[in-house]
Amino acid sequence: MPSHVSRSLSLCALMLVGPAVASAGEGEGVYMSTAHGDAVTGVNRTSGPVGACVQCHTAPDVTGSTFPLGLFTTNDNALCFDCHNGAGPQGIFQGPGAYLMTAHWTSGLMLWPGPLPPPRPAGSQGLCLNCHTPHGAQDALGLVPVLGYVREEALCLACHDANGPSVVDVAQQVNAAGLARHPVVTVAGAHAADEGLDPAAFGALNRHAECADCHNPHAARASDVLGGVSRISVSNGAGGTVPAYTPRAADVGGVVFEFEVCFKCHSSWTNLPAGARDLATETNPNNASFHPVQGPGTNMTSQMAASLAGGLGTPHLTTGAIITCSDCHGGQALPTTVTTVSSYTGAVPTGPHGDGDAPTAAYSSAILRGRYRLNAGGQYSSTDYELCFTCHSPAPFNTSSTSSRSDTRFRYHGRHVRDWGAGCNDCHNSLHGSAGAFYPSNRQYARLVAFSSIVQGRSSLEPTWSGSSCNLRCHGESHANESY
Ligand code: HEC
Ligand code: HEC
Ligand code: HEC
Ligand code: HEC
Ligand code: HEC
Ligand code: HEC
Ligand code: HEC
Ligand code: HEC
Ligand code: HEC
Repeated sequence: MPSHVSRSLSLCALMLVGPAVASAGEGEGVYMSTAHGDAVTGVNRTSGPVGACVQCHTAPDVTGSTFPLGLFTTNDNALCFDCHNGAGPQGIFQGPGAYLMTAHWTSGLMLWPGPLPPPRPAGSQGLCLNCHTPHGAQDALGLVPVLGYVREEALCLACHDANGPSVVDVAQQVNAAGLARHPVVTVAGAHAADEGLDPAAFGALNRHAECADCHNPHAARASDVLGGVSRISVSNGAGGTVPAYTPRAADVGGVVFEFEVCFKCHSSWTNLPAGARDLATETNPNNASFHPVQGPGTNMTSQMAASLAGGLGTPHLTTGAIITCSDCHGGQALPTTVTTVSSYTGAVPTGPHGDGDAPTAAYSSAILRGRYRLNAGGQYSSTDYELCFTCHSPAPFNTSSTSSRSDTRFRYHGRHVRDWGAGCNDCHNSLHGSAGAFYPSNRQYARLVAFSSIVQGRSSLEPTWSGSSCNLRCHGESHANESY
């Protein structure tokens, strides 16, 4: 008997009647518990029993069938598309048309590298079979979900690591132990393909971030890395108020704004962990001030323009620019000679995967692409504010002069930051937007002015800023409506 037939018979026996064997591998005893093998809702394209092998293996190829393994057609995506000719039940697989536009289909490098399951033969680039098995696979935890060969990030990192085949090595970022990163490799079993848009699935009791939470492997391509991902749209009200949220499932078309993907887990749409910021409310463009993520900023002064024109990265931004979360949140290996990730073409993956500065008392560990000093004090070094100086000129800060300048409206920036060891954070305490200011009265302020808790009020309970003068105490220093 030809070997593939005997293998077929033995595999058949294992799949249909075999116990869930201890060794990991494809098909062994799990076919019947997969979505394909289900006797009611499983594979069903012929008159044979629903869920049975014959739905796909119609004739043994020894009889002269044109197709290998007795499959009903060639062993390529057309076989899958015969049944998967539209979106899957979750809308994550969005049909053949969307798949044929992805990098996973168009890239000649997209080929499962092995070792387990073994490498796919040349010519199988772009096949669903690089990620899915029609028979199901199991590992130590049982059936691997969604007919995958391996679970969660292990599937993606098999190709997106230093060994390729993908040139985009995300592994070194999510595996950056000790450094700031999304909990991609550290949390397992919390994500489910059918979690849909239930806020509780992303909330404090089920925090997780898998590759598939931010990317859709059936839609992603270089020009639309976040394409086809479920997300939360916002409709903003007055500054400081929580927006109206509209959940959009994976198969709802249209442009995906990056911040909408983040809002699944970083907005009050879900139940945030204690103390976590509500980024949707904080980046509302109706706030008194904000970094321009959801919409353009409102600081049109010539000093603001000069601040941006003097940033260390290019292309220089202009007033009215819009930036993304990933322009600030990313790996430290991203060069600070580039302002926006959309203009970056080097090898370091963009995106907030990890490789952010390690948690220390002095520096923020918020997965930032450049160092950002939070705790004031010590000798001034421009590298302490590397993140800010990617886009903003460092010049106003590296001076003891208090003369008026053309690149800032606050001529005491240098005295405070360089000479007195103040951090940006002491006066710009809520970087995403004024609505998140520590002191409630500061939430109305323009220019992202908001004082940190080390700054206290003088006569009033809270430190205040009038737009051109300060009324506060800081490290024993008292400013009685001191103007600049
Ligand atoms: C949804 C369609 C589908 C169903 C249902 C299906 N198969 Fe397959 N089978 C395939 C495809 C496609 C391949 C080729 C896989 C590849 O190239 O990696 C394959 C390959 C095989 C192979 C060769 C494996 C190898 O290592 O090359 C065997 C044996 C097999 N199937 C047996 C079965 C048995 C037994 C069943 C029922 C318990 C079954 N198949 C159900 C689609 C299916
Ligand atoms: C004979 C019809 C048929 C063929 C051929 C077929 N499928 Fe399916 N597939 C189904 C049905 C039916 C389901 C269960 C209902 C659903 O998810 O649409 C399913 C479900 C799935 C799922 C979701 C599994 C889950 O646990 O939610 C994946 C992934 C999948 N198929 C991949 C493939 C791939 C890859 C191929 C090609 C190798 C393929 N299918 C070929 C009919 C088919
Ligand atoms: C790069 C890996 C990869 C490739 C290639 C791939 N898939 Fe998937 N697929 C996944 C992952 C991962 C999930 C689960 C997503 C999640 O957990 O959110 C999935 C889920 C699915 C689902 C169930 C979700 C739904 O929408 O109901 C179907 C059906 C599916 N894939 C079909 C296919 C078909 C058909 C192909 C080939 C045309 C294919 N996939 C190619 C990785 C892949
Ligand atoms: C079999 C190998 C393989 C697997 C598995 C795989 N990818 Fe890819 N992926 C590639 C290749 C190759 C490209 C094209 C870019 C390149 O040449 O490196 C790509 C492109 C992408 C892109 C678009 C970015 C770009 O520059 O084109 C995203 C996003 C992506 N993959 C995410 C994922 C996710 C998420 C998973 C797991 C669900 C996954 N990939 C699994 C090989 C793979
Ligand atoms: C599926 C959920 C999910 C999505 C989507 C998501 N994140 Fe996260 N993020 C997390 C989790 C979980 C953590 C770990 C800390 C926590 O639980 O809040 C985290 C942490 C972070 C941190 C570090 C926070 C800290 O405490 O220092 C930053 C920065 C961040 N995410 C930015 C983003 C950005 C930018 C996006 C959108 C591109 C995004 N995240 C999308 C789940 C998510
Ligand atoms: C201009 C740069 C910049 C942009 C744009 C930006 N962030 Fe941040 N983000 C920061 C900095 C700096 C911190 C650290 C502040 C701190 O530690 O006090 C931070 C902190 C965070 C944290 C941790 C906050 C916490 O709970 O303590 C999260 C989560 C986060 N950002 C998500 C986002 C998301 C989502 C977006 C887009 C909607 C975004 N950021 C846009 C600079 C930025
Ligand atoms: C918290 C959300 C989030 C998670 C989790 C996440 N990514 Fe990303 N990823 C992004 C964002 C956002 C970008 C794109 C930033 C940009 O360029 O605008 C990105 C970019 C990418 C790119 C393209 C990078 C480039 O420079 O071409 C690939 C490939 C990729 N991610 C794969 C993965 C893989 C694989 C995983 C899991 C190991 C993963 N991502 C996990 C948000 C995420
Ligand atoms: C002692 C308080 C204080 C510190 C410390 C501080 N700022 Fe400011 N900053 C201000 C005030 C007040 C304004 C508003 C000026 C105006 O428009 O009246 C301002 C405005 C700005 C502006 C808007 C453009 C302009 O007019 O300069 C930028 C950009 C800026 N600061 C960046 C920074 C950065 C980066 C740091 C840390 C390296 C920092 N600031 C530290 C008080 C401070
Ligand atoms: C990716 C580029 C980028 C980075 C990085 C960045 N900013 Fe900005 N920043 C901008 C842009 C663009 C504006 C708004 C211009 C406008 O309103 O027209 C802005 C505005 C500001 C303002 C004034 C807001 C107002 O309404 O007047 C302050 C203060 C500020 N940034 C501080 C910082 C600090 C502190 C850092 C470092 C933690 C930083 N920025 C990092 C791009 C950036």
